[in-house]
Amino acid sequence: MGTHVKKLLRGLGIALIGLMGLAVLALAAATHTDAELERVIRQGVRKDGTSTMIMPSSMFHWLTDEDLGRVIGYVRSQPVTDGPETDVRLRPVARLFVLSGVFRPQVSMIEELPPRAEPDRADPVSWGRYLALTACTECHGNDLTGAEDGSSPDLAQVLAYDQDAFDHFMSTGEALGGRNLELMSEVARSRFSFFTDDEVDALYSFLRARAQGDVETWPGPRAPTPP
Ligand code: HEC
Repeated sequence: MGTHVKKLLRGLGIALIGLMGLAVLALAAATHTDAELERVIRQGVRKDGTSTMIMPSSMFHWLTDEDLGRVIGYVRSQPVTDGPETDVRLRPVARLFVLSGVFRPQVSMIEELPPRAEPDRADPVSWGRYLALTACTECHGNDLTGAEDGSSPDLAQVLAYDQDAFDHFMSTGEALGGRNLELMSEVARSRFSFFTDDEVDALYSFLRARAQGDVETWPGPRAPTPP
């Protein structure tokens, strides 16, 4: 299984059921058909027809059939053991955030996105775009211009990094100037350090080209203007 799939899975696990672990994810998978899993993961529509709120389906929207199939296959291969409650309910504070609009229904975010496209793995920019859209949009916004609340920057920030500094940042979480960025550094260590060298190079190629205005953020000949 590719390291990218492991990272996606990890993000999925963390986002879907917090820290409850893979065994519980396996149990959740056991109660869903593949089609139901596809709908909840990639379309943000739960079995009962309501939208996911916190699980970043608008990021997983971009997953190719092949990668999604690998993720589902891997989760299904895990032993199902007795674990905590699998029905994830929003705690009161999270509900408040939802009601106040801090979390938007994922379905309405996905509606604003162009259709997914098959990345060209031989083209670093196309491949890097796929990695950025499936690994960074959760926090940096669906168009990578940064979180609406300003908590994370536009990924044009990579222009400050040369290739070596970017590699170092992704693999250790240590940002330029030896800074520790808390959430970003943590997520680099727990997820992005699994990227292969080729994946980090592709990611860097795409993010640089995007920051310089040479390529569109979203795939396709003419991406719609982000809202
Ligand atoms: C779980 C949330 C999260 C994810 C996922 C995430 N980031 Fe971040 N990132 C942040 C936050 C928050 C900041 C702002 C950190 C700060 O300034 O303290 C940040 C900052 C950054 C910065 C600016 C660093 C600097 O020098 O100040 C870069 C570059 C960056 N992220 C790249 C990425 C890339 C590339 C990805 C995807 C591979 C990614 N991030 C995914 C949360 C995230």
